[in-house]
Amino acid sequence: MKVHILLGPPGSGKGTQAKRLVQQFSLIHLSTGDILRDAVSKETEIGLRAKAIMASGKLVDDQTVNGLVFARLQNETQDVLFDGYPRTLQQAEALEDFLSAKGFVLGLVMNVEVPDGVLEARVVGRRVCSNNACGAIYHVETKPPKQDGVCDLCGSPLKHRSDDTAEAFRSRMDEFDSTFQPLLGFYRGRDTYRAVDGNRAPDMVFETLSRTFKEHA
Ligand code: AP5
Ligand code: MG
Repeated sequence: MKVHILLGPPGSGKGTQAKRLVQQFSLIHLSTGDILRDAVSKETEIGLRAKAIMASGKLVDDQTVNGLVFARLQNETQDVLFDGYPRTLQQAEALEDFLSAKGFVLGLVMNVEVPDGVLEARVVGRRVCSNNACGAIYHVETKPPKQDGVCDLCGSPLKHRSDDTAEAFRSRMDEFDSTFQPLLGFYRGRDTYRAVDGNRAPDMVFETLSRTFKEHA
């Protein structure tokens, strides 16, 4: 079993691209943000703890996130694409240990690069499908649904994430800025690391990412 990683700041397009990549390459999509939001909506013990942390744009602690991820990976046989994990050097190191203990392999590490200046508008204008099983991602200006407030794919109402405010976005960027360089340092020198320009139309970004997958597979 192989795990691939999508790195990138808030709003860089990790979720948008991951949804297409997992379809094309038959991968399991593991977004720690989605897993945590699901826990929040189900009011599990972890969800109750994570709710306010996530809404304020801070990171959930490494031990909790690693625990969720490893439980999910434990018996996985299909290749996995991570979106939003690992997020700290500690998570990357713990993942590395977990993979080698299980005999799993680290595949591609793709860093979706987008300049800071375009991220806030992407995040504040985002709307997501409220049906977690669908989770389609829209934008009020650049990717509006056909009918206002309604998901094109499943007909469920769209919602605005609680952390998609200008204030929470700034806090998410602060977290990103203080954790990303050590994380990048951990992966950048590896053969399977690729930086991808995410400041292009989504189809163009997807074209580069899927080509990278084809070449690597
Ligand atoms: P998470 O859900 O991972 O949020 P994030 O990393 O901040 O990333 P986003 O989901 O905001 O952006 P994205 O890159 O997926 O962009 P998207 O495709 O949606 O984490 C949320 C919270 O959970 C964290 O703050 C933390 O509290 C907690 N958490 C999660 N993982 C954790 C971890 N490992 N450790 C600790 N805590 C963790 O696109 C964004 C918008 O832009 C959309 O509207 C889309 O339509 C648009 N768009 C996408 N691509 C393009 C493009 N190429 N051009 C123009 N617009 C585009
Ligand atoms: Mg996302």
